[in-house]
Amino acid sequence: MAKAASRFVCSECGAVTTKWSGQCDSCGAWNSISEEAPLAQGPGKQALGGARGRRMRLTDLGQDEAPPPRAASGLGELDRVLGGGLVPASAILVGGDPGIGKSTLLLQAAASFARKGMKAVYISGEEASAQVRLRAQRLGLGDSPVKLGTETNLRDILTTLEAEKPDIAVIDSIQTMWLDTVESAPGSVAQVRAAAHELTTFAKRHGVSVVLVGHVTKEGQIAGPRVVEHMVDTVLYFEGERGHQFRILRAVKNRFGPAAEIGVFEMTGDGLAEVENPSALFLSDRDRPAPGSVVFSGIEGTRPVLVEFQALVAPTPHAQPRRTVVGWDGGRLAMILAVLEARCGIPFAGLDVYLNVAGGMRVSEPAADLAVAAALLSAREDHALPPETVVFGELSLSGALRPVSQTENRLKEAAKLGFTQALLPERSKLGPDAGLGVTALPDLAALVGDVFGAG
Ligand code: TYD
Ligand code: MG
Repeated sequence: MAKAASRFVCSECGAVTTKWSGQCDSCGAWNSISEEAPLAQGPGKQALGGARGRRMRLTDLGQDEAPPPRAASGLGELDRVLGGGLVPASAILVGGDPGIGKSTLLLQAAASFARKGMKAVYISGEEASAQVRLRAQRLGLGDSPVKLGTETNLRDILTTLEAEKPDIAVIDSIQTMWLDTVESAPGSVAQVRAAAHELTTFAKRHGVSVVLVGHVTKEGQIAGPRVVEHMVDTVLYFEGERGHQFRILRAVKNRFGPAAEIGVFEMTGDGLAEVENPSALFLSDRDRPAPGSVVFSGIEGTRPVLVEFQALVAPTPHAQPRRTVVGWDGGRLAMILAVLEARCGIPFAGLDVYLNVAGGMRVSEPAADLAVAAALLSAREDHALPPETVVFGELSLSGALRPVSQTENRLKEAAKLGFTQALLPERSKLGPDAGLGVTALPDLAALVGDVFGAG
C-alpha cells in the first residue's frame, strides 16, 4: 500500500491542499494552513490498529428527557434569545463589531445573574479593572456581587475558575486569550481555536456556563476559525448601526432553543435598556402618507415585528445606475427589480434605487418581497400607500405571490399597533377575524395595476 501523502488544511474554511502556503487559495486567509497527519488507509479495523473498542450503550429516541434546567437573568430580551434562560454548563459565543456594546451587555447580564443569587465572574482581557469598575458604577451595578478579573493567560484563568466554581463566567474577549502551549500570537487562528476548545470543555466538565465575547471581521463573521462556532452551544450576534441607539441580539445557532430569535435593546446613557415593543420603535412617524415608505409585518424568531422599508428612486447621472441597500439583501433587490420589469413592464433602467430598512434593523425574510416591491413602486410612481397599511408576501420569478407563514400573527401585531389595512398574497391562511381590512393579491401585476394604477 502506498504511503499516504500528508495534507494541509486551512483552519478558516477547511480547504485541503497538498502543499503548504502562506495564504489559503480558497478563502484568502493568511497563516491559516497547517499540516495534518495523514489518515490511515484501508478498512476501519486496520485504521484503528486492530484493537477493539468498548461496546456503546444505545438508547431509544422515545426515552423521557427532561428539558434542560434554565436560569433566567431577569433581562427579558436576553433570556428570550437564549431560549428561555441560561442552560447550565453551556458555552455561548457573543459576536459583534467593536464598540457595539458587547462588554456593556455582558457586564449587565453578569450583574443580573449575580443579583439572582448565581455566582458570576467577569474576566476582561481588554480593559483594566479600573475601567470595568468605572463602567459598572456608571451602569449602577457597583453594588452587584460580580467578581472581576483582568487576565489573558488562559492557564491562570482556568485555575481561578476551577477554584472559584462560578455558575457563569464571561470571557471578554476570546481573541485576547492565549495558551502557553500554543506557539502563536494571541488572536491568531491557532490561539483562538485552542482557547475556545479549552473553555468549552471546561464548561462541560465543571458545570460552568461560559460566555465568550468574539470580535467580528469586516465581513461580519467572528474573527478566527469558523470551528469556534461549531464548538459552542449557542452563537449570538450583537448588531446595530453605530449611529442608531437600537441594538439587536440575534441567535444564529442555539442547541437549546429556537435560532433566529431576536432581543431588542436601546443604548442609553445608563447602558442597555430592554425594548419590549420593538414594532413601535422601528416605525418612524407615520402621520402623513410618504411615497416610498411601506410597513412590513415580519416575524423575527417567535415574535412578529413591524419594520418600515423606505425606497428612493431617482434619475441617474451615471451610465451604470446605483443600487444601494441597507438592511436587506442586495441580490434579492435585484431580483425584485427584474421581476417588476419583466413581468409588469415597469423598467428601472436609468434610475438610481436606494432601499433602506428604518431603525437599523436587518430583514432577511423572503416574506418582505411584496413590501419591497410596493416601496419601489410607491417611490417610482410617487404614490404613497395609506399610512395605516401593512404589506407582506413572497414573490416568485414568474411574478406570482406566495402566501407566507404566520399570516395571523403578522396581522394581529399590525392591528395591535393601529393598522387597518393589509396587502397580502391570495390564498393566505386567514383566521376567522383578521382584525383589519385585507386586500388579497394574486400576483405582482395586481399590485402594479390595482393598487398603484400603473403598468
Ligand atoms: P462596549 O460595551 O465597550 O462595546 P464592545 O465591548 O462591543 O466593544 O460599548 C462601547 C460603546 O457603548 C461606547 O461607544 C459607549 C457606549 N455606551 C453608552 O452609550 N452608554 C453606556 O452606558 C455605556 C456603558 C456605553
Ligand atoms: Mg468590549
